[in-house]
Amino acid sequence: METVVSGIRPTGKLHLGNYFGAVSNFVRLQQEHNCYFFIADYHCLTTHPVHVDMQNNVKSILVEYLACGIDPDVSTLYVQSDVPEVAELYLLLNMNAYKGELERCTTFKEKIKKQKDNINAGLLTYPVLMASDILIHKATKVPVGHDQKQHLEMSRTFARRFNRLYNRDYFPEPHAFNFGNSLIRIPGLDGGGKMGKSEGANNAIYLSDTPEEISKKIMRAVTDSGPIEPNQKKPEAIQNLFSIMKAVSSSETLTYFDDLYSNCKIRYGDFKKQLADDIILFTSQLREKISEISDDEDYLKKVMKQGAEKAHQNAAKTIREVREIIGFRN
Ligand code: TRP
Repeated sequence: METVVSGIRPTGKLHLGNYFGAVSNFVRLQQEHNCYFFIADYHCLTTHPVHVDMQNNVKSILVEYLACGIDPDVSTLYVQSDVPEVAELYLLLNMNAYKGELERCTTFKEKIKKQKDNINAGLLTYPVLMASDILIHKATKVPVGHDQKQHLEMSRTFARRFNRLYNRDYFPEPHAFNFGNSLIRIPGLDGGGKMGKSEGANNAIYLSDTPEEISKKIMRAVTDSGPIEPNQKKPEAIQNLFSIMKAVSSSETLTYFDDLYSNCKIRYGDFKKQLADDIILFTSQLREKISEISDDEDYLKKVMKQGAEKAHQNAAKTIREVREIIGFRN
C-alpha cells in the first residue's frame, strides 16, 4: 500500500478530460492505497491574488469529486487551506530551496511571461508549496500529468536535501504514479491539444453541462469536408472526436462509424449526433449526482470538516517530527 497525494487547483469545473485522465482512476486507486485528495486553493493565489469566487470554485470541485465516486470515508478529501501545517512545512522547506533552481523551473518561466505585472514570490516558490503538499503526508506516489513532472522532481530534490541536511532518512522520495495503458486521454473540441488546455468556451465538455450544452458543443466541434479516399488517415480534429467516442460509446458504435469513415460514407452530422447522445448518456448519472450533492450544504460541510480533521491529524504528526529534527521546541 502506497500513500498517494493529488491536488487540483480550483479554477473551474471538471471536464471529461479530468474525469478520464484522473478522477475515474482516483476512484479505483482509493480502494488499494492510502489516498489524500485535496483542493489546492493556496496555489490559486499565485495566479489569482484576488480570487473571484473561491468558495464556489472549491465547492464545485468538491461536489464533482464526490459525484465521481471519491469516497470521503475511504480517502482523505480536504481543502489545502484547512490544513495550516502545509503552510508551516512550506516555510521550513523554503529555507532550503534555492533561487536559481526555482527560476529555472519551466512553469515559472512560462508564468512570468504571462503575468509580467505579478511576478510574486509565491509563483517562484510554487514547487515548494507543492512539495509541502506531498511531503506533509510522506507520500510515495503522486498521479501527475506530464506538465507536473518537473515539479515532482523538485519535490524529490527537496525531500532528499532535507534528509541530507539534517542527516536523517525522514522523507521518502515521491514518484509519479503511472496509470500505464489504462489512462484515457481526452482531446479538446477545438481541433488540437488536450481538453481544457485552451480556454475557449467550446473546447471542453464539463461534467455538469446540460444535455443541450453538450449537443451544442459537439455540433460546433471542428471537422473537415470529409474523407476523400478509402482508408485514409484521419486528420487530428476528426481523430479527436473518435477518441472521445472511444471513451464514451460502445465498441459497436465506434466500429460502425470507423467503417463509415474508411468507406468515405460518413456523415459528420449523424456521427456527431451519436457522439453527443452517448456523452449525454455517459454523464447522466454524474449530472444527477452533481445537482443532488450540490444542494446538500450540510453534507458538504460535514465532508470538509471530516477531511480537514483527517488530513490535519497526519500533517500535525509530520510537523511535530520535522520541528524536532530541525531543532525547534514542540
Ligand atoms: N500543481 C498541480 C497542478 O497544477 C496541483 C497541485 C498542487 C498538486 N499541489 C499538488 C498535484 C500536490 C499533486 C500533488 O496541476
